[in-house]
Amino acid sequence: MGLGKRKLVFKNETVESAVLEASVADWYPHMLKALKEISRGIRSRITLKKPLRRRYYDENYKMSLRQWLIRHQKEIVFDKVTWMGMPVWKNILDAWIYQEIIYEIKPDVIIEIGSRYGGSTLYLANLLDLLDKGIVISIDKDRSVYHLEHDRVKVLTGSSSDPAIISEVDRLCKGKSALVIQDGAHHKEQVLEDLENYSKFVGINSYFIVEDGIVDLFHPGDGLGFDQDGPLKATEAFLRRHSDFICDKSRERYLLTYNPGGFLKRISKKEAGQ
Ligand SMILES: C[S@@+](CC[C@H](N)C(=O)[O-])C[C@H]1O[C@@H](n2cnc3c(N)ncnc32)[C@H](O)[C@@H]1O
Repeated sequence: MGLGKRKLVFKNETVESAVLEASVADWYPHMLKALKEISRGIRSRITLKKPLRRRYYDENYKMSLRQWLIRHQKEIVFDKVTWMGMPVWKNILDAWIYQEIIYEIKPDVIIEIGSRYGGSTLYLANLLDLLDKGIVISIDKDRSVYHLEHDRVKVLTGSSSDPAIISEVDRLCKGKSALVIQDGAHHKEQVLEDLENYSKFVGINSYFIVEDGIVDLFHPGDGLGFDQDGPLKATEAFLRRHSDFICDKSRERYLLTYNPGGFLKRISKKEAGQ
């Protein structure tokens, strides 16, 4: 079949028909090749309309909350979170919630169990600076990397279970309302012991915040899991025994918390027999 000279027009792309006076069998492969080239051209124009930057965000937005938490744990929390230049091992969405709680309850004392570098301690002290009231009691058994000096911070060095430490906290908290943040050891027994020893300092409407219950919701090996019972198991056991505390889920509203089940609010005085 004779075709004569033709121009093929496809979405504003023009190609010369590859053959003259050829049979279908002759021109068909050329036609296919030409169509493929055109479609490649169209694809590359689509790519240009969607720049690299946009594709980067599209990929990120496909991430699940679970994937975000693992990525945060593996790549961010231990060396890329700082407060005023000092390392802080926190999810900043939790740190923001602490700020909201501290502003609302205006505690006389914040007891921090586990300070590490002191970045989180400075954060708490600076929030109290803004309120112009209160002290932070920093309890840690290891001061080798802690270098903070701040007028509002009382440093107690030793185990949170040490009776001498607890009695010093008792002295400092006399007649005062405290907020407690437990970020020391994370295995269930120690968390429960800290809850039992320090919950008595928490004022009504104030909180005992237990950090890192998230480890109980992941599995060992997936980057966030623990190979034993952790903080969440401890808070569950504590709440079964203490009706003067409730778990305040509203403090988990940003979803991406490291402290699931960990915002324990004191709602009443301790009942006799508890
Ligand atoms: C996770 S780090 C604290 C991180 C810090 N709160 C922050 O946000 O940057 C845990 C700290 O708790 C301390 N620690 C662990 N068990 C403890 C205990 N039973 N008593 C006192 N300190 C403890 C460790 O020495 C360590 O410095």
